[in-house]
Amino acid sequence: MRLPTPEKVSEQKITFDVEEIEPILQAPAMDLKPWPGAMVTLKDGRVMYIREAKLEEAPMMLEYMKKVMEVDHDFYDIVGARVYAEILGWYRKRLKDPYTLVGLIDGLWAGFANGRLLNEDINISLHTMALIRGGRIGAVMYYAKAYYGFEILGNKEWWATYESYNGWMRWGIGMAQPSYPWPEYQHELGGARVYYVTKKYWDKVVKDYIRQMAGTELVFDVPDEVIKANEVMRVPDEVLVYRIIHSRAEPVRLALLIFA
Ligand SMILES: CC(C)(COP(=O)(O)OP(=O)(O)OC[C@H]1O[C@@H](n2cnc3c(N)ncnc32)[C@H](O)[C@@H]1OP(=O)(O)O)[C@@H](O)C(=O)NCCC(=O)NCCS
Repeated sequence: MRLPTPEKVSEQKITFDVEEIEPILQAPAMDLKPWPGAMVTLKDGRVMYIREAKLEEAPMMLEYMKKVMEVDHDFYDIVGARVYAEILGWYRKRLKDPYTLVGLIDGLWAGFANGRLLNEDINISLHTMALIRGGRIGAVMYYAKAYYGFEILGNKEWWATYESYNGWMRWGIGMAQPSYPWPEYQHELGGARVYYVTKKYWDKVVKDYIRQMAGTELVFDVPDEVIKANEVMRVPDEVLVYRIIHSRAEPVRLALLIFA
């Protein structure tokens, strides 16, 4: 847009260094306490270590998410596409105060959970994914990020929404989350209903969710060998999220059979 200048000016053109533009486009970050890293023993005995994703892991995560967003099954496509954009938003610093947690089993990427801070009080849950099914990995990942919000960041409210039946079943129903009136309140993911958890409700009821779902707690005193085993993240060779009908023990072989 152009308008005539209302005053004589010495320079008709003013140029910017892009580094001067960046502080405007990149929101000033809040001072978030980091997620300390925790492990959980899944119901089948496998140990999953939940840590923050490292920025340098983002390209590998993006490559894998490209494959996941092709999966026209259980809403992995839309969640995959949005998660792709969120990982990229975090990587390119175009997301306000994001946090990105990964669940790893002996270094293998098994779960994902992310969100962002609207402000000091409200934590916006973005997405949760189980990249390996049948271990309640998604249930645990979601719990971990809510724990992060309420117990570590001191948030007062948790805002979520659901794109999939499994997500709604796991947390909308699983945590008996109420929702705000709609369409007055809309979640940033497509304008869907905002389901919420308050700190009071968290303390009273939801904090026990992981015990009910996984029969265990998050363990923050993580042995060095577990940290070490999950220092380097690997993505699965294939997409493993289809229903496994006969066995849960051989996901790779069965997923390949389904592909064939
Ligand atoms: C929602 C989600 C994270 C839940 O993950 P989860 O807690 O690990 O649970 P799963 O979806 O793998 O499994 C749900 C149930 O069906 C069974 N199941 C579903 N698909 C299965 C599969 N392919 N293999 C084995 N079991 C399967 C599970 O055993 C589980 O039963 P349970 O309730 O007795 O534990 C996961 O379904 C997911 O990533 N979905 C796609 C992305 C998505 O929808 N995210 C949430 C957005 S709202």
